[in-house]
Amino acid sequence: AFVVTDNCIKCKYTDCVAVCPVDAFHQGPNFLAINPNVCIDCELCVPECPAEAIFQEEALPQGQEQFLKLNEELSEIWPVITEVIPAPEDADKFNGVPNKLPELIV
Ligand code: SF4
Ligand code: F3S
Repeated sequence: AFVVTDNCIKCKYTDCVAVCPVDAFHQGPNFLAINPNVCIDCELCVPECPAEAIFQEEALPQGQEQFLKLNEELSEIWPVITEVIPAPEDADKFNGVPNKLPELIV
């Protein structure tokens, strides 16, 4: 499955959700998660993300491994999102800021 990682936090552009053929994305307050049991590994969402936050679970960048379990857990409690919504006003300010996990709102 593909995994949403740290750089999505507080960026949440949601361009990714428009292309997913199986509606695998779930939305929280400032992050999105992919349900690994639904994702069919089509890879369509990867180039859509302006924050380059989506990776294949076996190709996660160093330090992002914990997001595998996190995507599974959060996708179980958050609702599905299938339509693009406006990004936070300050999304661009947080694009590229490392280690945003402490700011994740569940
Ligand atoms: Fe959806 Fe494909 Fe991305 Fe998986 S890889 S979340 S199926 S768009
Ligand atoms: Fe997040 Fe990128 Fe989607 S920032 S909401 S994974 S387009």
